[in-house]
Amino acid sequence: MNAHPKMPNSHSQALAKRAGQVIPGGVNSATRRLARPYSWDWAEGAYIRDVDGNTYLDYHAAFGPILLGHNHPGVNAAVAEALHGVDMVGVGVTEAEIRLAEKVVEHVPSAEMALTFSSGSEATYMAVRLARGVTGRSKLIKFQGTFHGWHDYLLMNIISSPEKIGQKDPGSAGQLQDAIDNTIVVRFNDLDAVEAAIAAHPGEIAAIFLEAIPHNIGCVLPRQDFVEGLRRLCDEHGIVLVFDEVITGFRHGLGGYQAKLGVKPDLTTMAKAIANGYPCAVVAGRRDLMMQFSTAPGGKVFVGGTYNGHPVGTAAALATIAALEDGSVYERTFRLGERMRTGLQEIADRLGIAMISAGYGSVFTPYFMDGTVERYEDLLRNDTARDVGFRSAMIEHGIFMLPLAIKRNHISAAHSEADVERTLDVAETVLKTMR
Ligand SMILES: Cc1ncc(COP(=O)(O)O)c(C=O)c1O
Repeated sequence: MNAHPKMPNSHSQALAKRAGQVIPGGVNSATRRLARPYSWDWAEGAYIRDVDGNTYLDYHAAFGPILLGHNHPGVNAAVAEALHGVDMVGVGVTEAEIRLAEKVVEHVPSAEMALTFSSGSEATYMAVRLARGVTGRSKLIKFQGTFHGWHDYLLMNIISSPEKIGQKDPGSAGQLQDAIDNTIVVRFNDLDAVEAAIAAHPGEIAAIFLEAIPHNIGCVLPRQDFVEGLRRLCDEHGIVLVFDEVITGFRHGLGGYQAKLGVKPDLTTMAKAIANGYPCAVVAGRRDLMMQFSTAPGGKVFVGGTYNGHPVGTAAALATIAALEDGSVYERTFRLGERMRTGLQEIADRLGIAMISAGYGSVFTPYFMDGTVERYEDLLRNDTARDVGFRSAMIEHGIFMLPLAIKRNHISAAHSEADVERTLDVAETVLKTMR
């Protein structure tokens, strides 16, 4: 049955059926499978179009990479130019790879050296291995509600059900018990809890992984004293502090969110928006740590990857950085983000709907609840049915917000003032029906 009467989807359905014959579940990543099947044939700027000809204003942004807008001409031209150069040789280095590392070092406050990978999960995996390799310790600390990619070590306690809070909540069958045992999950924004976890495992913690802003649960801002406290604890106990800036890196500034916090991690991981939709990821950090990767002579932490520093991703990242360097994209996307957040809050307040319009910079997430949000546990009060209902109704009006609860929305440089005002008008219409 078509739950969106105004949006035909017979072609998407047919393709989903065909896909299901040869691709498990018909999609190539678990979070791409939605109740209503979608198949796409066009994207440009702030808009995407499905194979049934429905055009949507896109706030999903492919889970975050699209910062400049879909099919950005400058990025695509740089990629096209790269296709005329060396494709891949597989030894040595290209000047483009050097330029990318130089740009990361120039812009990201904690970056003294950088290595390039293809995906965020590879980057966080390598940061785990490096932290363990240099400290000789096994255990990791992560926070309830954060996501750091698909590998065994950190795939735990993300969107946990209430009864799983405070317990080990691995994300997948097949994860090694050893990996689960060695990952300690702590309440976010709770420094005492971190201190207690370190005290319970003296000399055993290799790294603390922090999603600079936990955006996998919308937008929960870290308290400044919490982040500063993490830095102090890591220094005191010889723990490697890793900021996972896979979402925040370049989306919130060329220096990542660490530049706003004024706190330097030891290692930083970035992906998604750094190449505006092309595969590229980075691990950057302190020189003494980075020199322990086996790319350096004597480095004892093995690192490899046929596609590391691939010319397409590298060219896309360099073009993305070039487009961001004058700051105008941030001025625009932050301004539109602010207008969206305050506009949504004003509408909800006026209509008497319990809603917190959360977000930062270009990111906005309406939570359907009262009170404040300091950590994932607070989001258990979110009204999931209303949240998903709101998003689904927005989609029906041609505004694409991922129809899953507490997920973030993204504004790109291609969104206009008029797009945002239209979104607010539609939101008002939808919210009125939800009173
Ligand atoms: C904070 C964070 N870290 C790591 C990852 C993994 O990145 P990728 O999907 O590119 O492997 C993600 C993906 O959503 C993420 O949000």
